[in-house]
Amino acid sequence: MKPVCLVIGAGAGIGGTVGKRFAKEGFHAVLCRRSNEEGLKKLVAEIRDDGGDATGFLLNAVKEDTIEERVKQVEAEIGPIEVVIFNLGAQVGNRSLEETTYKIFELGWRMATLALFRIASVACPLMETRGKGTMLVTSSTAAVRGNAGQHSHAAAMGGRRMLCQSLNAQYASKGIHIAHIVIDGSVDAPDTLGKMLGPEKFQQLRESKGMEHDGLMLPEKIADTYFHLHQQHRSVWTHELDLRSFSDLAWWNH
Ligand SMILES: NC(=O)c1ccc[n+]([C@@H]2O[C@H](COP(=O)([O-])OP(=O)(O)OC[C@H]3O[C@@H](n4cnc5c(N)ncnc54)[C@H](OP(=O)(O)O)[C@@H]3O)[C@@H](O)[C@H]2O)c1
Repeated sequence: MKPVCLVIGAGAGIGGTVGKRFAKEGFHAVLCRRSNEEGLKKLVAEIRDDGGDATGFLLNAVKEDTIEERVKQVEAEIGPIEVVIFNLGAQVGNRSLEETTYKIFELGWRMATLALFRIASVACPLMETRGKGTMLVTSSTAAVRGNAGQHSHAAAMGGRRMLCQSLNAQYASKGIHIAHIVIDGSVDAPDTLGKMLGPEKFQQLRESKGMEHDGLMLPEKIADTYFHLHQQHRSVWTHELDLRSFSDLAWWNH
């Protein structure tokens, strides 16, 4: 039975590409995403066509019990979850304080922080019984810097970061490696940034900044880093890192 790499938030960008990478390395990739069934099937088919094992589920991480039920099912029917990639974003758009309703603020927190707490609550104890596991948590600049229009996003992602630190404090010594990964810039991700910008603007951005310019972060290259993190020797675990293109200024410089 292959170990499982469970991806929560598996689009064609970071989530699905990291799943593919782990499948190539001998994991059964279990890909979960909210709504795009066609995209999910495509990712699963690509992994299988490449000789890997993959299963896809539609799952809305903010709905009660969805994560908990899925973890139980995967452990019972597919295999032991050795790696969790927690990848869903919590972007609720650029909103002034007046435009940020209580409901919107809470939604950001549900996606960024509570959903991570829920997956950790079910996966960490399982990993603990096996004495090993990796949880790689994708995050964003908003986790380390607040900004006008980012009241919900920054508070929620800051919470994600602190939760990773607290989880590490409890679980690292038990063999569970948790890394908080700040994605500090734009990713060549059609299902998130691509949808936010619309096809025309996204293509313009890819042509002016991405492709051979390497100014958009490439999901395949991010996936290399995720796999490396999983393989790190426990005497030198990375607990937090940031990734950005060579041509972007770091978050603390602008
Ligand atoms: N893209 C960027 O430029 C960028 C920049 C900075 C940080 N990040 C971080 O990168 C991560 C996302 O990676 P990505 O942009 O490359 O996207 P991706 O992996 O291509 O896609 C993420 C997927 O998450 C799914 N998702 C959203 N809300 C969900 C929910 N409530 N339950 C389950 N699944 C949900 C969506 O599925 P459906 O499509 O099926 O709805 C989406 O396709 C986030 O943590 C984000 O903060 C991205």
